[in-house]
Amino acid sequence: MRRRAAGTADLVRLAREARERAHAPFSKFKVGAALRTRAGEIVTGCNVENASYGLTLCAERVAVFKAVSEGLREFDAIAVIADAPRPTAPCGACRQILWEFCGDIDVHIVDLSGRKRTVRMSKLMPLPFDRRNL
Ligand code: THU
Repeated sequence: MRRRAAGTADLVRLAREARERAHAPFSKFKVGAALRTRAGEIVTGCNVENASYGLTLCAERVAVFKAVSEGLREFDAIAVIADAPRPTAPCGACRQILWEFCGDIDVHIVDLSGRKRTVRMSKLMPLPFDRRNL
């Protein structure tokens, strides 16, 4: 499902709603993400865990793969929300995937109280391995 959103507040709200759909019975750590295209379409994701723990997918990768599988390619921001004492930045695997498909976008890291920190992907991936290396 795709939605339209105007600004960052909408993006954060949709990430928060997506977080409610997380399947996290093992870690109990629910994460929501909302990825925005340059045209303003939003695709959400939540973490989906598995009893075989290594098969777990993070919220960010679910959002990216949903979007890419729908033919969306041009992104400008992602919001990630979790209930944590410190902002939950995307894990290393998600950073690699975000860099591949989104490049140097804004990453809004939010906690449940609404506290928000924004970082650029290039800050999270200062020396990336990407197609330029191949
Ligand atoms: N997780 C995410 O979904 N995104 C992150 O940025 C960090 C970690 C998930 C994976 C797992 O389901 C749970 O959080 C605990 O690691």
